[in-house]
Amino acid sequence: MQKQLPIINDGDSIVPYKKAMEANMKKFGKILVAVLMLATLVGACFAFTACNNDGAKDTLIVATNCEFEPFEYLDDNGNPVGIDMDIAAAIANELGLKLQIKDMAFDSVVGSVASGACDIAIAGLTVTEERKQSVNFTQTYFSSSQVVIAKNGDAILDVTVSDPENEDEVAAAIAQIESMLNGKRVGVQNGTTGYSYVSGDSDDYEGVAGATAVGFPSGALAVQAMLNGNVDYVIIDMVPASKLAAANQGVSVSEVVLTGEDYAFGIAKNNSDLLNKVNAALDKLIKNGTIEQIFQKYGYSSGLGE
Ligand code: ARG
Repeated sequence: MQKQLPIINDGDSIVPYKKAMEANMKKFGKILVAVLMLATLVGACFAFTACNNDGAKDTLIVATNCEFEPFEYLDDNGNPVGIDMDIAAAIANELGLKLQIKDMAFDSVVGSVASGACDIAIAGLTVTEERKQSVNFTQTYFSSSQVVIAKNGDAILDVTVSDPENEDEVAAAIAQIESMLNGKRVGVQNGTTGYSYVSGDSDDYEGVAGATAVGFPSGALAVQAMLNGNVDYVIIDMVPASKLAAANQGVSVSEVVLTGEDYAFGIAKNNSDLLNKVNAALDKLIKNGTIEQIFQKYGYSSGLGE
């Protein structure tokens, strides 16, 4: 049987095969473009709903850095655990949302919330004027401070404070510590207030005269560098400092409290709806004792009842 030349009805005219194919390809091209546009649109919608607190959203996406025991760290199976992670779960539960933890470099945490890639920063995050320029903070849930970790036997550990309520004594001890940091290399986690305390920044910290901040991806790596002789001291938040000292032989934590800091959660500036909801949830969880229970599960107190 002879093959029939295919003819295609292109609207009102009957067109020969080649022309018809061209027309078809054009049509196909248009359809492809339309499909791609639709896919992009759908994708954008998903991205939007994944990161913004609109009606379709069912997951709270938390930005953190799991190098900060006991607030956030990875358990033996690589799962994020810690005080903040339990609080995150309690908040998500209050909001009726599923929880997704995104573990990232600490210096990406605030930016990922400001850009909308994540909903909330829960990361032992200190409230600072500098960070307030990019995110809003919830109410605070813990007070902390920077402290020095030093090798046992280092003279900096001999600087003590007999009465922490005595402001003059505390100020004198801080001045003494800072003079001992002059000319030294201090290991800090990148992007932290510890880093800013040593190096100074435009809004919150003057910096320690003559000290050089050496940034590491984690406090643990900073302590390793100190043990290897690559930095002289490590400066980090006080509770994680005690965990690091417990995990590393031959180092101790100075008892001099260098800064006064408060932890809160960071939320995008354009997401006041989520800010209000999280503040209400946090308020409830503080009042009904859940936050304190979580701290105690890890062997600490929130200090919120004081
Ligand atoms: N409180 C300090 C800050 O806000 C350190 C926080 C580090 N957190 C972490 N998950 N690594 O800069």
